[in-house]
Amino acid sequence: MREIKIAKSAGFCFGVKRAVNLVYDQVGNAKKVYTYGPIIHNEEVVSDLERKGVHVLSEEDIDAMLAHDGREDDAKEIVIRSHGIGRDAYKKLEQLGFEIVDATCPFVKKIHRIVQEETEQGHCVVIVGDENHPEVCGIRGWCVREPIIVNSVEQAKKKLDFLDKNVYIVAQTTFNDVKFKDIVEFFRNKGYNVIVYNTICNATEERQREARALAADVDTMIVIGGKSSSNTQKLYEICRRECENTYYIQTLVDLDLTVIESAKRVGITAGASTPNYIIKEVHDSMSELSFEELLKQSEENGNKI
Ligand code: F3S
Repeated sequence: MREIKIAKSAGFCFGVKRAVNLVYDQVGNAKKVYTYGPIIHNEEVVSDLERKGVHVLSEEDIDAMLAHDGREDDAKEIVIRSHGIGRDAYKKLEQLGFEIVDATCPFVKKIHRIVQEETEQGHCVVIVGDENHPEVCGIRGWCVREPIIVNSVEQAKKKLDFLDKNVYIVAQTTFNDVKFKDIVEFFRNKGYNVIVYNTICNATEERQREARALAADVDTMIVIGGKSSSNTQKLYEICRRECENTYYIQTLVDLDLTVIESAKRVGITAGASTPNYIIKEVHDSMSELSFEELLKQSEENGNKI
């Protein structure tokens, strides 16, 4: 019999669950409802919301509305996703008359506060993260002094000329913890006085740690998540290092069941934006034990899925 294990931390984290719930709470009210960018990196959820009348607005859409004096009479509200946005973006939304429902994750808000306070004092802030990731763009938007953004030691090497003696380092919440420590060590070894705010979210660390351990323990590993979800991509990289037979899928449709035919021990994990029902479908397609039975079994063992 094939053994299938689901990582306990697979799927929605606290911040994403809160943001998605806040959007669903707005469905059906009298106002036009928008989200600032897709609420999560999951096409299934975004399409479902679209069908329910919740529309995605991009930064470009908002700029275009401003250019055309987009203040309409219709009441409208916009949900800020868990990634958060910069200070200027809030101002633009207010100018356009949006009622703001702020679902920025409190852990991301904390980073906004740190970079704002540090840069207000003139300090040199380094953001360790992917420059184009919306969370990093949002964090940058709270800096009073332009921050340095790096996502690797190679990038850090090129930025040394722009740093002060004291550098204040924060991380994108979903950044790989090992890579973050390498970058911090690099600055330290170069003689900088580093003040580190390790803002990597526990949910991410926990998910990565668990995925690594699970991948090392199985012969086939399935990683579920949206293709543009950076935290799922990182999970995939981590699992691939431990388990050669690691597959990255968005939904059950992408899963080639022939690849798990000969598998004896299968592990499943999922990125922070993957809804439970997708994990369930993937699990059920491979198992004789239903997801509910597994859930019950897991709870009896004191675990949660
Ligand atoms: Fe928040 Fe951590 Fe999730 S920062 S959005 S709880 S990954």
